[in-house]
Amino acid sequence: MAATTADLAVDLGTSRTRVVGKGAAPLLLDVPTVVATASRGRKQEVVAVGEAARKMIGRTPEGTRVLRPVRAGVVADFEATEQLLRSLLKEVGGRSLRKPRLLVCIPYGTTEVERRAVADSAKAAGAGSVLLAVSPIAAALGADLPVQDPVASMIVDLGGGRTHAAVTSLGGLVVARSAQVAGDTLDEAIGAWMKVNRGLQIGERTCETLKTRVGTLIPELHHDLHMRVRGRDLASGRPEELEVTADDVAAAIGETALRIRQLVLETLAATPPELAADIVDRGMILCGGTSDLRGLDARLRDDTALPVLRAEDPVRCVARGAARLLADATLLERVATTA
Ligand SMILES: Nc1ncnc2c1ncn2[C@@H]1O[C@H](COP(=O)(O)OP(=O)(O)OP(=O)(O)O)[C@@H](O)[C@H]1O
Ligand SMILES: [Mg+2]
Repeated sequence: MAATTADLAVDLGTSRTRVVGKGAAPLLLDVPTVVATASRGRKQEVVAVGEAARKMIGRTPEGTRVLRPVRAGVVADFEATEQLLRSLLKEVGGRSLRKPRLLVCIPYGTTEVERRAVADSAKAAGAGSVLLAVSPIAAALGADLPVQDPVASMIVDLGGGRTHAAVTSLGGLVVARSAQVAGDTLDEAIGAWMKVNRGLQIGERTCETLKTRVGTLIPELHHDLHMRVRGRDLASGRPEELEVTADDVAAAIGETALRIRQLVLETLAATPPELAADIVDRGMILCGGTSDLRGLDARLRDDTALPVLRAEDPVRCVARGAARLLADATLLERVATTA
């Protein structure tokens, strides 16, 4: 068995990938989990990764493909994941670390096949060895929760592809729930709603922009929010532009948001009484990009009658927690596993 130690950690997220190291400023990279490839003869060659590749989504000519290799937190495209990781490892210092030992954060509740896919793509990308840690533990550490104490801490990570709700105590997960409903599902709901209710087909990135600029779960507080969007009119096939309001987006995402809220309630219902009592006092901490959705924290407060707080720099909680694991061999030993 490989020694429980790692040089770098990767939060391989559905939307963004973060790489952290051991230094005083651990965050080394934070880029979209996107790879663009083009056919050169019979081979597909990488032409862009990260932000440059993301800009190409929905705008590629024939022969070029833009891939999001991670879906719902798990590797959906092995080769593209390997290409992304190879390029990122090279960028963070191929010179000093020829075969870095990697810690990769993975969702809670993945199958053995999914875990092996992550480990194998990291090794194929040049990692010397690979350790895995479930992301809710890292998120709780990154949010500065007292994960190792005999007290319950509740963390809710609302990402691009997954929502996790978990309760930690004494360095482990006591209760955890994970579902494939998160930012991407909200975007898809907006796309579907626009088709049905406005007869307009809009792209993936436009759906996301609508969500972040106009999205709310409490439209009565956000009547001032609206946005003009462009797409293809389904009836005429012509490009069309129209106005979308906060009420429209709220109608589009309400049901999906409810599924996210339900996951939090399910997690609380499964929490043993002593620990539930701690949570009554201390509340839950939200992290992940989707925790920025307007009104989500207020809705969760209404649902649970508990304190709901946002973590500092919520999109980097898992990465920050992973950096703490790199720096603490004893904790890493407790938390990490091999594939
Ligand atoms: N202001 C905002 N309002 C709503 N959603 C937002 C906002 N800003 C970012 N998001 C969403 O947050 C998601 C990305 O969050 P995050 O970076 O935590 O995901 P990830 O870690 O890559 O994914 P996962 O952990 O699910 O694999 C995207 O779906 C993005 O659209
Ligand atoms: Mg994440």
